[in-house]
Amino acid sequence: MSENPKDTAVTLPAQSDGATLTKDAAPGETLLKVTGLQKHFPIKKGLLQRQVGAVHAVDGIDFEVRAGETLGVVGESGCGKSTMGRLITRLLEPTGGKVEFEGKDITHLGVSGMRPLRRDVQMIFQDPYSSLNPRHTIGTIVGAPFRLQGVEPEGGIKKEVQRLLSVVGLNPEHYNRYPHEFSGGQRQRIGIARALALNPKLVVADEPVSALDVSIQAQVVNLLDDLQQELGLTYVIIAHDLSVVRHVSDRIAVMYLGKIVELADRESLYRAPMHPYTKALMSAVPIPDPRRKNAKSERILLKGDVPSPISPPSGCRFHTRCWKATQICKTTEPKLVELKPGQQVACHHPENFEDQAPQDTVLLTIAKEAAELVADEVLAESAETSAAVAAEVAEIEAEAAAEEPAEAAPAAESGNPETAGEK
Ligand SMILES: Nc1ncnc2c1ncn2[C@@H]1O[C@H](COP(=O)(O)OP(=O)(O)OP(=O)(O)O)[C@@H](O)[C@H]1O
Ligand code: SF4
Ligand SMILES: [Mg+2]
Repeated sequence: MSENPKDTAVTLPAQSDGATLTKDAAPGETLLKVTGLQKHFPIKKGLLQRQVGAVHAVDGIDFEVRAGETLGVVGESGCGKSTMGRLITRLLEPTGGKVEFEGKDITHLGVSGMRPLRRDVQMIFQDPYSSLNPRHTIGTIVGAPFRLQGVEPEGGIKKEVQRLLSVVGLNPEHYNRYPHEFSGGQRQRIGIARALALNPKLVVADEPVSALDVSIQAQVVNLLDDLQQELGLTYVIIAHDLSVVRHVSDRIAVMYLGKIVELADRESLYRAPMHPYTKALMSAVPIPDPRRKNAKSERILLKGDVPSPISPPSGCRFHTRCWKATQICKTTEPKLVELKPGQQVACHHPENFEDQAPQDTVLLTIAKEAAELVADEVLAESAETSAAVAAEVAEIEAEAAAEEPAEAAPAAESGNPETAGEK
């Protein structure tokens, strides 16, 4: 990570409103700690708006974010990633559990209590089209955090905003332009500049590239990576599949229906995923491995829809789609425990490890139907193969080919987003 954190970044006046109560976390130390975090959105009905149920969007998760690292968070749509992001940035009030930032309990801080923390914790939003006010100039948008916090940077706001624009690769002369005059990738750079304005310690990026063309996604991810090196930032990067986070994450948390099912360092997760759901996610987006280039491989295709978070399945929430599910999976929720150093898993019958419930070996009927093993060629030929998966496969094959120069195709022709120019 960065050798010169923070000191190359924006120079701000000393904070006078309580922020100095917390001590800075050194690289590798816990910056943010989450314990038993829950968010249940009430469902109300009728004239009296009586509560008839709740969406269990985040349902008891534990993790920590270490200073200087990137924690990737992945999972299917609706599993609670954005809710988790909004809880840890305290844009949402948790239903239960605890959030600590630099050792300070921020779970239920009010607006004034959160004000100093708003400098330290910033969020980058998914949609660069709707997250920038179309009536404001770029200068106003990127300068807003200074005005909101009453901060006067050295040399004035305009100079500082122009510096930030050049830091994220935009022309500082475009200070007076409006968002519609920029492309999607450039707008996301504007969102990044705004998030960096107050020199934050933690940046939570909620699907920062999913609204962008594949050819531009890698550029924005690389920009985030470069900024981390230069500014010593800590990231939580949310994505719905492993392809976006695989290059940049130090550790990855896999979420399913409001729970973390596996949390591991990147190497361990890719080398030997232990939760069946992680395995299925990875199987959908194969990891380039030139050694296995010509080997026939199979993918796990999960059948069935993600169950409703209003009434999640009993026991292990994945048991209705898991091809390994037994009776204990239906009745007993597996705890997230460290099965290997640096690899926490919530599963009774994990992959690549001894069975945690060896007495229970009879598969549930549903397990036999839960997943399908499909040969790669069949999947590639299938008319139902989604464009996204096809693009991903092409990218990965290009990467693998690039590692073998003799057979490598020109990057521009193979559509490798890492080398394609921004439109
Ligand atoms: N304000 C809200 N009120 C009620 N339910 C909500 C609210 N916000 C989110 N939810 C529900 O909580 C669940 C988790 O939503 P969330 O947006 O956190 O998921 P996600 O993993 O970010 O999904 P996606 O990948 O589609 O962005 C979903 O079922 C969603 O419908
Ligand atoms: S084996 Fe059981 S506990 Fe493990 S993921 Fe499948 S259903 Fe859940
Ligand atoms: Mg989301």
